[in-house]
Amino acid sequence: MTADSTQAFHGPHIAAALRLEFPHLEVLDTLDIREAHSADHTEDLRFLPDVVVQPRSTAEVSDVLRWAHGHAVPVTPAGAWTGLSGGALPVRAGISLSTKRLDRVVRIDELNHQVVVQPGVIVQVLQEAVQEKGLFYAVDPASRGTCTIGGNLAENSGGPRAVKYGVTKDWALNLEVVLADGTVIQTGADTLKNSTGYNLTQLMVGSEGTLGFITEATLKLLPWPKFNALLLVPFADPADACRAVAGLFIDGNQPSALEFMERSAIELAMAFTGDRQLPLDADTAAHLLIEVDGFREEDLMPQLERIAASLERFNAGEPLLALDDAAKDQLWNLRRKVGEAVKAHSTYKEEDTVVPRGHLPELLGAVKRIGAEHGFDSVCYGHAGDGNLHVNILRGDMPETQWNETLPTAIRELFQAVIRLGGTLSGEHGIGWVQKPFMDLRFSPAELDLQRRIKDAFDPVHILNPDKILPAPEQGQADCA
Ligand code: LAC
Ligand code: ZN
Repeated sequence: MTADSTQAFHGPHIAAALRLEFPHLEVLDTLDIREAHSADHTEDLRFLPDVVVQPRSTAEVSDVLRWAHGHAVPVTPAGAWTGLSGGALPVRAGISLSTKRLDRVVRIDELNHQVVVQPGVIVQVLQEAVQEKGLFYAVDPASRGTCTIGGNLAENSGGPRAVKYGVTKDWALNLEVVLADGTVIQTGADTLKNSTGYNLTQLMVGSEGTLGFITEATLKLLPWPKFNALLLVPFADPADACRAVAGLFIDGNQPSALEFMERSAIELAMAFTGDRQLPLDADTAAHLLIEVDGFREEDLMPQLERIAASLERFNAGEPLLALDDAAKDQLWNLRRKVGEAVKAHSTYKEEDTVVPRGHLPELLGAVKRIGAEHGFDSVCYGHAGDGNLHVNILRGDMPETQWNETLPTAIRELFQAVIRLGGTLSGEHGIGWVQKPFMDLRFSPAELDLQRRIKDAFDPVHILNPDKILPAPEQGQADCA
């Protein structure tokens, strides 16, 4: 049974019914606000919700879900609209259930190095709140100034520091979750270790709001390694840059970030930000951006020297060292703006490929080979230390019909290559709405069926973020092409 076939309330009736039933609930249905809740950062996709609800407490979230469950009305959790796979798009209309008013850092527990936080807290706000106490929340997506903890938990977000500190799942100890029928549960315990029953915390993280609505999270913290330094290292051959990535680890280095950018990525970011200060040699084709961190300033130089020695094996050019905040901010700002810069430059399709990092050179080779076969340019950048390459396929001046016909085939070939290399469809952006046609490449029918049964167990009426992650059972390859 799906929400589609049983939905009793449509359009404006949803708002009217909610207002009648819950007079204190913030229910919004002007066209303006519905439009603001219709699009994220995924291409140019738009889906209007019927109504936007902004609950202020777990009890209000529970009320909304119990009501929606009873009336088979779709509910799509929404954060800050920075998603890159359409996870928050209300593709079946219904209710866009926002975390906007659930925006408190509830408690910083200095004794246990933990923080309890509501889902609408901006990641950078959390980072700065705990830093004031000498503590560190390391997950650091490019959009940290705008994205929320709830969105990060939903998508299992990563970012540059994941290479040393892991992704969102590695920091989540325990979650308060409202299930589809309004029941409130805890997924685990506020402990660093937990070997007690099924790991619902880890199941919930990355489930993109399809299994429950997270209303509170207990996250792990570390002492804050205050000092860091950055190296921008040029390469004439991008394949050498990719080979250097695994090489650095083999040589015993542990950078706190290890990012790859093709020349076009940094050029687009410079044009987009207006920052033309960076010298680029004519023969530079790619860069690695390498960060090291530590608790004392004197921890940095020995790490940088070891890394520089390693890089010599991979034909690296002369590195640019950034030690002061202004120089580091400039480099990070360019890196963080690449995604937006590509978006502003051309119609594009973004893929979040990930392979075991030693296979990065083959992955980059496959991207360029498939692009050449189908007539696409691409801009590649990303978290090389994690084997996570963001591939932006550019439409350029390709006619729209050709783009629409060729792109799905090219993406399918790309993912086939990724899977041959031991990788998967998304490292950190999620499957959401746009990548589900490719799930059959990664999972067998039995594996997909198991995932569908998990969804059914949590959300039997399929009201929670319907039509995300899992393709319909009958959806075969023909639908994907
Ligand atoms: C980044 C986003 C796109 O790494 O994940 O810039
Ligand atoms: Zn990224």
